[in-house]
Amino acid sequence: MSKEIELPLQFAPTLVAWQRRFGRHSLPWQNTRDPYRVWLSEIMLQQTQVTTVLGYYQRFLERFPTVSDLGAATLDEVLAMWAGLGYYSRARNLHACAQAVREQHGGEFPRTAAALQELPGIGRSTAAAIAAFCFAERVAILDGNVKRVLTRLLAFDGDMASSAQEKKLWALATELLPPEQDMVAYTQGVMDLGSGVCTPRSPQCLLCPVSELCRGREQGEPTKFPVKTKKLKRSQRENWWLWLEHEGQVLLQQRPAKGVWAGLWSLPLFDDEAALQAAAQGLDLGQGPGQGLETMPRIQHALTHFDWTLHTQRAELQRRPADAQFHGKWVARERLADYALPAPLKKMIQA
Ligand code: ADE
Repeated sequence: MSKEIELPLQFAPTLVAWQRRFGRHSLPWQNTRDPYRVWLSEIMLQQTQVTTVLGYYQRFLERFPTVSDLGAATLDEVLAMWAGLGYYSRARNLHACAQAVREQHGGEFPRTAAALQELPGIGRSTAAAIAAFCFAERVAILDGNVKRVLTRLLAFDGDMASSAQEKKLWALATELLPPEQDMVAYTQGVMDLGSGVCTPRSPQCLLCPVSELCRGREQGEPTKFPVKTKKLKRSQRENWWLWLEHEGQVLLQQRPAKGVWAGLWSLPLFDDEAALQAAAQGLDLGQGPGQGLETMPRIQHALTHFDWTLHTQRAELQRRPADAQFHGKWVARERLADYALPAPLKKMIQA
C-alpha cells in the first residue's frame, strides 16, 4: 500500500464531542490523573473485559493503595491476587514495574510516554494511554481495538502482520491527534468506539459518530479491516492432573518460572495417563468402593496458542506420601485462596 492517505480532519473533534456527551465517564479508573491507577487499569484491561476487571481493580487498590505498596509486596502475593485474570506475565511485569518505580523513581511514575515505555511490561500503546490520560501528552494509542477503528476509518489495507505497515498506521494515528486539551476525551473516545461501536464482527455503523467520515464504510465492507495475513495456528494439548488429598490438605506444586501458568500453584501435572499411574504407584489409596483413583469431569481450557484438555484423577490418601516421592506443598483447603491457582483449577476445587 503506497498511496498517500488523506486524513479526515473532522475525526478528532467529532469523536471528542461525542465522547464528552455519550462516552463512558464513570469507570473507576477515569476522573483521575493518578498514573498508578491508570497504569493498573490499563494492564488489567489488556486482555480482560471491563466487567471482570472491576472487582480485581478494587481489591488491588485496597490491598496496595500506592505503587510503592505494590512494589514492596512479594511476587507470590501479587500472583495470588491476580489469579483468575490470566496472562500471568502481566502480573510478573506489574510487580517488576512497581519495584522499578519504587526503587528507581522514588515511588513516582515518570511523566512522559517515552520514559514510561522504559518500564517493565509497559508497551508503546500503554505508555501512551497513561501519558495521555494523566499528563495530556499528544501521543497515540494503538491497541487491537484502536487498530480496528483506524484501519476502518482510513480503509487502511496494509497488512497488520507487517511491522512496516504497522509503523505506518502509528504515524497516521499520531497525525489524527487533537490538541492537548482534548487528549483525555479523545483517547477515551477511540477506546469507547472500539469496544462498544466499531466491534469486530458486527460494527454498529448506524450509531457511530464518525460513520460519515469512515472510508471503510464508504467502500461497503468495513469488516474487511484490519487486514492481517498471518493466522494464529492453534494446537491441541492434553495433560493429566493428580489431585491428592490427605486430612483436608491438597498437594500443590509450583509451576516453573517459564511457560504456561509460570509461577502459579497447580496440582502435579503429567504428560499422559500412564505417567500419572506410574507416579501414583505406591500411594496409599485405600481399598474398596469410593477409594482408589476417581476420575473427575474433563476440563477444556482455551489459551492463546492452544486448546488444552485437562483430565484429573483424584485420590483421598490414607497416609501422606514421603516428600521424596512427591515434592510440593500440602495446603489446607481453607488456605487455598492464599495461593495463585490457575482459574480452571480453582473452579474445579471449589466445585
Ligand atoms: N480498555 C483499555 N483501556 C480502557 C479504558 N481506559 N476504559 C475502558 N476500557 C479500556
